Amino acid sequence: MMNIATSLDRGDRASTQKQGKKHLQLIEKTFTNNQNSDFTEKIKELGQDFDYANNCDRYWSPPELSLLYGTPLYEAASPSQKIALNHLYWVGNYIHTAASEASTMIYNTVTGGVFRAVGGYETLCKELEFETEQESYHIRTFQKVGYKTKMALVGKTILGNPFYHKSDDGMMQFLPQPLRQFFISNEQNSPFSDYRDRALSFIAKGMLKDKKQYYSPYLKELDEKNESIPAAADGLVGRLAPQHWLRFFTLHWGSSPFMACQYYSIRYTANAILKNQEHLYVKYFRELERQGEFIPTPTAISHYHLLDEAFHTTMSQTIARDMYKDLPKPTAYEKLVSGRIIYMMQQSLLSGLSGVLPGRCVADTPLFMLFFYKLLQSPLFGMSAREALDWMKKCFTQEHNGFHVGLKYHQNLLESLRRLFGCLDYQWQINREMSIMASGGSIERALVNNSQTFKQFSRSILAQEI
Ligand SMILES: [Fe+2]
Ligand SMILES: [Fe+2]
Repeated sequence: MMNIATSLDRGDRASTQKQGKKHLQLIEKTFTNNQNSDFTEKIKELGQDFDYANNCDRYWSPPELSLLYGTPLYEAASPSQKIALNHLYWVGNYIHTAASEASTMIYNTVTGGVFRAVGGYETLCKELEFETEQESYHIRTFQKVGYKTKMALVGKTILGNPFYHKSDDGMMQFLPQPLRQFFISNEQNSPFSDYRDRALSFIAKGMLKDKKQYYSPYLKELDEKNESIPAAADGLVGRLAPQHWLRFFTLHWGSSPFMACQYYSIRYTANAILKNQEHLYVKYFRELERQGEFIPTPTAISHYHLLDEAFHTTMSQTIARDMYKDLPKPTAYEKLVSGRIIYMMQQSLLSGLSGVLPGRCVADTPLFMLFFYKLLQSPLFGMSAREALDWMKKCFTQEHNGFHVGLKYHQNLLESLRRLFGCLDYQWQINREMSIMASGGSIERALVNNSQTFKQFSRSILAQEI
């Protein structure tokens, strides 16, 4: 086992080698520029002053960033319904972003502790702390604007969020009752989950035992209080994997310097997914500004948010692509876990195409369809159950322009992810090439998938409600 002296030697050596490295200069520059530019106060102000009535009759982005854009239903919708679909897209997108940024705050803290233990990365740690602080402002504003808009448009109708529906695990229903009790309990603490969590923690701690000196103080504190590692239930990381896997991965991100860097390839993915849509809000903002027109508050929030996030994206990319090379090479085990994480990420977040939500790169699931079923029956459309199902069939299972718009976003995102993952020499080839994501970018495949899912969905609805 490596002793502390060896570790400090290594820290000093890394520190000396690092001097003059390009990425360290970039970290310094990013920290300074982010502090000088910081738009959190502006974002906070916009959120506090937001009144839906003053923004209700304008588009907040180009129309293609609207729910159901390009579908036959969108073509038939009234001008006011189209504007509402544009606003609901903003709400879904940013409530999802708020959830993702809440987990970013935790992982910044977890990994920051590891980088501080490595030594020589003080500016990086300060930048991560600064970003965490910025996220707290962003989250509060998104939630405020999202809530007021949702209440104004659909009142108390419970829609859920189309941006993050987890797929349910239907396998459990086929297990005999005693076995189901072993796997499931109301307290979410079944004997099975206890064994599983302890086994996973045992494996992680055993495999990373030579990294003890880097163990994140955040996790140490939780251990001392006998509290379990937090695992996001929603947002981007929450959708990446079931919570027991997330806890397992967090132990790695909070113990191994290499794995702490690896986490930033996921954070980069979250940054790229958001930027894929957010840059259009910025373009729209600039166009309105140039023409001297009224700028809706949510458009302005998106604009300033992207300016803050540009620094976060640079940091994610720098840590994920360059900084890991400062550290000792990953072990075979670390490579295996890293490969598994990104493989799971491709499967759960990037493996398909939506026909009704431009920019969503995952197949339409029954829970996702339920959101639209409720939306069509909300006061906004006021449809009967039968009407809603008829329209949904046209939107989900027949080829229309929405799929082609979705494909454009899919291709843009694929390119930016390949730019990063293609550089990661330790990654599996399927991850470097983003092959699972690439094969999901097919309208033909999306239509086949949606036809099957819709059949299953409408059958369950008809059995219950009609
Ligand atoms: Fe943010
Ligand atoms: Fe961020």
